[in-house]
Amino acid sequence: MELRELGNTGVKVPEVGLGTWNYKTGPEPIRKAVELGSFLIDTAEMYGTEEAVGEAIKPIRDQVFLASKVSGNHLRYDMVLEAAEGSLRRMGVDYMDLYQIHWPSHTVAIKDTMRAMETLVDRGLVKYIGVSNFNVQEMRDAMAAMSNYPIVANQVKYSLQVRHIERGLIPFCEENKVTVIGYSPLAVGALAPKSGDGSGPGFKALQQVAQKHGKTVAQTAMAWCLRHPSMIVIPKSQNLGRIEENCGAAGWQLDTDDLQALDKAFPA
Ligand SMILES: NC(=O)c1ccc[n+]([C@@H]2O[C@H](COP(=O)([O-])OP(=O)(O)OC[C@H]3O[C@@H](n4cnc5c(N)ncnc54)[C@H](OP(=O)(O)O)[C@@H]3O)[C@@H](O)[C@H]2O)c1
Repeated sequence: MELRELGNTGVKVPEVGLGTWNYKTGPEPIRKAVELGSFLIDTAEMYGTEEAVGEAIKPIRDQVFLASKVSGNHLRYDMVLEAAEGSLRRMGVDYMDLYQIHWPSHTVAIKDTMRAMETLVDRGLVKYIGVSNFNVQEMRDAMAAMSNYPIVANQVKYSLQVRHIERGLIPFCEENKVTVIGYSPLAVGALAPKSGDGSGPGFKALQQVAQKHGKTVAQTAMAWCLRHPSMIVIPKSQNLGRIEENCGAAGWQLDTDDLQALDKAFPA
């Protein structure tokens, strides 16, 4: 598994991590992902999967880069601290590698939330601070609210079907050395139908590019996301075979012809 630097930290994370929203099975798929080098495991207090993640990583905690999130309705200073303690307790760990603000708040001052996030780092409960679903202005405000630590990642929706972050957010993150963690990179499965039978001109183009490289449609859709050097992706799967397949999105590149064909098939 190829690695990329997380923000400007010097810490390396895999190009393909594992999402756990809707993860409804035992520990094996998560352990398989880690064994294959897909060791960034993403969860959130609102997913209801922190216990399952904790259980899976118990014997391998030191091999995992563990990411969770505080919900957008828990962003007051004291609530953030409480939410983090809850996540740690449910996962049975004493620190999280990355703690992310799940959604920006329009009622709580960002300064208040960020002060809490920095307190968590000071207390050793969190290693790195991230955000999620923040636009450029929200990123600027959050960065300005930090006193001692950087924001190392912004987790946002990105796939061939959802490309709006290309115009402003990705260039901003690249300039500011913030990792973009692309969520729903398979458009929640729509880009890689399990039947293998997709429809529409987009799917045909994707299939052709995949065939040319001897890759699957899912691997090709995620390699397309990974053409941005600041990006990593976190597909969710609870299936051993598909986890292995998804790891094969890392470490290869699409060429200019492929990118043109996919641009035409999935216009920005
Ligand atoms: N920050 C946020 O607001 C936010 C929002 C949404 C998601 N996320 C994070 O991003 C992660 C991924 O996003 P997502 O779960 O929305 O969607 P996704 O990763 O695009 O798609 C997941 C779906 O695709 C299927 N799948 C996975 N690999 C496949 C493959 N190779 N071929 C065919 N089907 C495949 C999965 O089923 P199987 O499990 O059966 O393989 C699942 O149904 C989440 O789990 C979560 O951690 C974050």
